[in-house]
Amino acid sequence: MEDVAKTYRTRRREVTALRELSLDIGAGEFVTVVGRSGCGKSTLLRLLSGLLPVSAGEIRVAGQRIDGPPRQARCVFQDYAQSLLPWKTVAGNVRFGLRHAYEPAEGGHDELVAHYLDLVGLGHAADRYPWELSGGMQQRAAIARALAARPQLLLMDEAFSGVDALSRAKLQDVLLHAWAEEGLTVVFVTHDIDEAVYLADRVVVLHPEGHGLLADVRTGLPRPRGQVVTRELPEFLHHRRELLHMVLD
Ligand SMILES: Nc1ncnc2c1ncn2[C@@H]1O[C@H](COP(=O)(O)OP(=O)(O)OP(=O)(O)O)[C@@H](O)[C@H]1O
Ligand SMILES: [Mg+2]
Repeated sequence: MEDVAKTYRTRRREVTALRELSLDIGAGEFVTVVGRSGCGKSTLLRLLSGLLPVSAGEIRVAGQRIDGPPRQARCVFQDYAQSLLPWKTVAGNVRFGLRHAYEPAEGGHDELVAHYLDLVGLGHAADRYPWELSGGMQQRAAIARALAARPQLLLMDEAFSGVDALSRAKLQDVLLHAWAEEGLTVVFVTHDIDEAVYLADRVVVLHPEGHGLLADVRTGLPRPRGQVVTRELPEFLHHRRELLHMVLD
């Protein structure tokens, strides 16, 4: 992202959500984005997803300037209840994710669908409908659908926010596992500093008034991460403290 700005124009007023934002994300990086409510996190993600056009500056994905949803990217948003198709089973929803993505090689779609459902721990629920699942399971299905399209870039906005604490910890580990397996690049927006530090190699803090970046912190915590071990590391606590001060003060 180079000198990106986004201004929302409604009939009554203009809101500049982001300005002078430059951010270079390397292939295979896991970046989390934090910052106060209203600082432009979701805007940043919608711009990256190509769902919203920039007002100034430019965004390139794999060297190509984007002017619509990039082929390599998939998104998972917070509202899982609305993101799955209720008339399709879990497997049907994941298969739907494969639709335009690519032609499968040997084995066809069924094998891929099973693979991604197993990856998120939903192999047993393939034939159920979304409304027969818990919130955490629905969100896992949405993640499986995104992963099944074999994106290079996975964009997630508060994707685990509506889920209970234990399921959330599980989902974090499912995502880390998938990230490691698939060689993905992940940009993950969250308001939860602990989650941001736990997941990422790099935590980006947006300026509260949307003027570019407030901080760009490379944590360097060891991998693989563990819910108990990682969260007790002195480096984890250090980054957590530093970032909390940044967003709260
Ligand atoms: N469609 C829109 N039309 C007008 N203004 C908008 C629109 N979407 C967002 N904004 C404004 O842009 C700013 C940034 O919003 P954004 O949703 O990106 O923030 P956020 O960091 O994701 O906040 P939160 O943590 O609450 O989700 C806010 O001032 C918001 O009111
Ligand atoms: Mg938001």
